[in-house]
Amino acid sequence: MDLRLGVAAPATGEERAAVASVLGPPGTGWEGGQREAADGHVAYGGHAARAQPHLLLPVLHAVQERAGWISPGALDHICTRLTIPPAEAYGVASFYALFRTTPSPSTVIHVCDDLACRVNGAEQVCEQMERRFGAEGADAASNGAGVAWQRSPCLGQCDRGSAAMIQHAGAEPARVVLAPVDPDQLRPALSPMPPAGAASPLVPQAAGDRSPLRLLRRVGQMDPGSLGSYRAMGGYEMLRRAVAAGPQGVIRELKDAKLLGRGGAAFPTGVKWEAVATNPVRPHYVICNADESEPGTFKDRVLMEEDPYALLEALTIMGYTCGAEQGYIYIRGEYPLAEARLRHAVGQARSRGFLGPDVMGEGFAFDIEVRRGAGAYIAGEETALVNSIEGKRAEPRNKPPFPAQSGLFGKPTAINNVETLLCVPEILRIGGAAFPWIGTPTSPRTPPFCLPRRLYRPGPDGYQVGGTRRPVGGGGRGAGGGWAGAGGVPRGGGAAVRRGCRRSSPVVPSSQQRSAPRPWASAAVVKCRIRAASPRLR
Ligand SMILES: Cc1cc2nc3c(=O)[nH]c(=O)nc-3n(C[C@H](O)[C@H](O)[C@H](O)COP(=O)(O)O)c2cc1C
Ligand code: FES
Repeated sequence: MDLRLGVAAPATGEERAAVASVLGPPGTGWEGGQREAADGHVAYGGHAARAQPHLLLPVLHAVQERAGWISPGALDHICTRLTIPPAEAYGVASFYALFRTTPSPSTVIHVCDDLACRVNGAEQVCEQMERRFGAEGADAASNGAGVAWQRSPCLGQCDRGSAAMIQHAGAEPARVVLAPVDPDQLRPALSPMPPAGAASPLVPQAAGDRSPLRLLRRVGQMDPGSLGSYRAMGGYEMLRRAVAAGPQGVIRELKDAKLLGRGGAAFPTGVKWEAVATNPVRPHYVICNADESEPGTFKDRVLMEEDPYALLEALTIMGYTCGAEQGYIYIRGEYPLAEARLRHAVGQARSRGFLGPDVMGEGFAFDIEVRRGAGAYIAGEETALVNSIEGKRAEPRNKPPFPAQSGLFGKPTAINNVETLLCVPEILRIGGAAFPWIGTPTSPRTPPFCLPRRLYRPGPDGYQVGGTRRPVGGGGRGAGGGWAGAGGVPRGGGAAVRRGCRRSSPVVPSSQQRSAPRPWASAAVVKCRIRAASPRLR
């Protein structure tokens, strides 16, 4: 690609329209619009131009969805509109797996061949793909179907994998998740108007004894598309309670609760929020890390799909406590259903005064923007995520400074995982002092355990830390023999595993599994991410 402005083949009308759908029509000739006489004398730039580059990812998504790839002409036009050097924009476009910078068919199938899907026939699915569409990544024109396919790391559908995601570009773009993948399902899904997204998730306890449930309490009990349904189940009462307690009161409750982050570093949430709340530099930002890309993990997805308003309420409490007026939910691009439900929920909350300039008439402003990732595991690391929201490659920054000191746009920023955030209303509900008594003293809470389809009852189960693994997943009676049949439980799941390699998921052989209680902080259940083992270990 020639990295210069002014390429031979300028952006097509539809590419320009895609860019305008995010940025609005160009105001002047300097922004790629119609050149007027005044443009010869006046140029606009400065602060207004510098405030734009963070929109690069949304614009790239719009073009990718419309045209199926980001052509040199489209990139040239985007650079003109956002005042970004072409080399920088190309660096970003070529960084993310869901963007393509070479001509591509309008339909691309991403087939998960990660751990949980492998034990559920991912290789056979790949073989079928090869028979139908040729080799992975083969030129779509050669197979006559106009479809390309490629292998993908975990798509976060391990409870019902083997999984695939179809990206359709065009006037009616769509992302369709198929899980489990069934060759007969593939045909209708490949049509220009694919069927609606994935079926509702499996939440084993939704139909049984719900008493141990805390974070999953509302799952299956309410309409995730209805703010009224959420309110009928006590929704937004904890925001009211947070405002009554004041920022310092909320922070005190979090510290009493000994809440530790669930994203990997297990950092005390109360301390993090306090560092941002008391930072004199303004403005402050809060971010929900919904990039969940750890192989075998899907609990954040289920929580967002089934209880989206709870996440908005928790993030609003975070914004109020940290003194931020703007929050972001950064969600991975492979979660179309969760994203759609969150976007709908944000619209509803805004129209009913739960977001906006005067939240619930309580005299503080707060709003939320949902930002879609584009297929980069590393974007889950908090500083990489900040870079991604700023419109850059999702590459981690050096720490210090930590985000609480210098985060999004160089301002104090608090970042928390979905599950961590959903603990906050629960803490306010039962009181911070009561929270440490759930689970073990070192590991309070009932985390959702991610049980892959290989087990008897797949789905996110809510059990107390400190119990044995035996009851999880249906008393060990897995379809393939429970834990024994699965061959073992991969260790770790936290940063230790992820930092090494995204595909590395060390597995503890069944013979070494113990049924003794393990504290949250122990290596085996650092993140309570339990996955099926590879067939090799069966
Ligand atoms: C390589 C890498 C990937 C990560 N991926 C995620 C992720 O997908 N989701 C997440 O919440 N945290 C992830 N983290 C942890 C975040 O950097 C950060 O610690 C976390 O979002 C903070 O939220 P918490 O305090 O609620 O845990 C990752 C960290 C590393 C080093
Ligand atoms: S969706 Fe395939 S391993 Fe998670």
